[in-house]
Amino acid sequence: MKTIRVCLIGTGRAGLIHGRNMAAKIRGGELIALCDPSQEALKAAEKELNVTYTYTDYRQALKNTEIDAVIVVTPTVYHKEIVIAAAEAGKHILCEKPLAMDEAECLEMIAAAERNQVKLQVGFMRRFDESFQEAKRIVDSGAIGEVVLVKSLTHGPSEPKPWMYDISKSNGPIGEVNSHDLDTLRWFTGSEAVSIYSIGGNFRSPEIKEDYPDYYDTVSMNLQFLDGKLGAVDGAQYVQYGYDARVEILGTNGSVLIGDQSKHKVVIANREGEIIRPAMHSWTYLFADAYVAEDQAFIDCILEDSEPFVTGYDGMMAVKLVHAGLTSLLEKRIVWIDKEEAQ
Ligand SMILES: NC(=O)c1ccc[n+]([C@@H]2O[C@H](COP(=O)([O-])OP(=O)(O)OC[C@H]3O[C@@H](n4cnc5c(N)ncnc54)[C@H](O)[C@@H]3O)[C@@H](O)[C@H]2O)c1
Repeated sequence: MKTIRVCLIGTGRAGLIHGRNMAAKIRGGELIALCDPSQEALKAAEKELNVTYTYTDYRQALKNTEIDAVIVVTPTVYHKEIVIAAAEAGKHILCEKPLAMDEAECLEMIAAAERNQVKLQVGFMRRFDESFQEAKRIVDSGAIGEVVLVKSLTHGPSEPKPWMYDISKSNGPIGEVNSHDLDTLRWFTGSEAVSIYSIGGNFRSPEIKEDYPDYYDTVSMNLQFLDGKLGAVDGAQYVQYGYDARVEILGTNGSVLIGDQSKHKVVIANREGEIIRPAMHSWTYLFADAYVAEDQAFIDCILEDSEPFVTGYDGMMAVKLVHAGLTSLLEKRIVWIDKEEAQ
């Protein structure tokens, strides 16, 4: 069987998850190169992952003809230029979410992949999570009737990094956190959104309100879909109690719930009469198996020459909803998405 030789571009938090998977857990895949302009990040990754090549400039990495595929895990602002250059160099691409900063960038990236006949998969790893897949099978079987409403929430524990306060650079939680939820709504409704209304506020970082009046750490969004289905998303950063990702799919005659807030199935009862369940602390833990399945699916789609399970188009539609959701929040109005555009 042919082996797909992979270069990891961006060896930070999420990058190392893909790097560790590709180095040890993926059939038909082999991590042979690392690329990061930060010497510190590169050295740390190199120490842990046994690779043949290291680069500080992705342009040099893309010249290496031994590399068949790249995984792009840099800050989102760099996704577009790297993905297009990788496509032009004939490398298959797995790009982390959000695919890019706006819809126009996504269109260019999708066109470059098509023109060069390379795969472009987007990192919505929740679609590879066992519980999400089981829920999708149940919904598609008709067991809960027709889908009426999909509710999805993501809360992150950590204090935002200073650059995130400027939402023109980060898009805030709607982009960084809720692009997953928006993709989940599209996946379970099987439809596209036509309207979105968001409200939000900064409840946990009052000290930065003067410098960053638009910053929000909590958001609530309502969506309506082309076929009338309803969606609701709630997002929050810096919640401190743990990492929380839950979904409810309500049908005409039943519902499906995904996720709970516990880290594992252990429940502790103590002499104070308390029942304690440790909270989930991180997305890296909750979705560890989903990342492995996502990386395996990427290699498989190259080897089998099949369409990626999560396409560039899926990435673009989520980016479009991020933009609409943020516009609604800032302009305090319902944002309507052109019905023809939504299709
Ligand atoms: N799927 C998920 O749930 C998930 C989770 C976390 C992050 N992400 C996404 O992954 C991406 C990276 O996020 P992160 O949290 O790992 O960030 P990070 O800051 O931890 O790591 C980013 C790395 O990219 C490197 N980098 C910057 N410019 C580069 C370039 N031009 N070429 C190569 N490397 C470059 C940085 O030096 C850094 O080491 C973002 O798009 C983020 O939204 C997705």
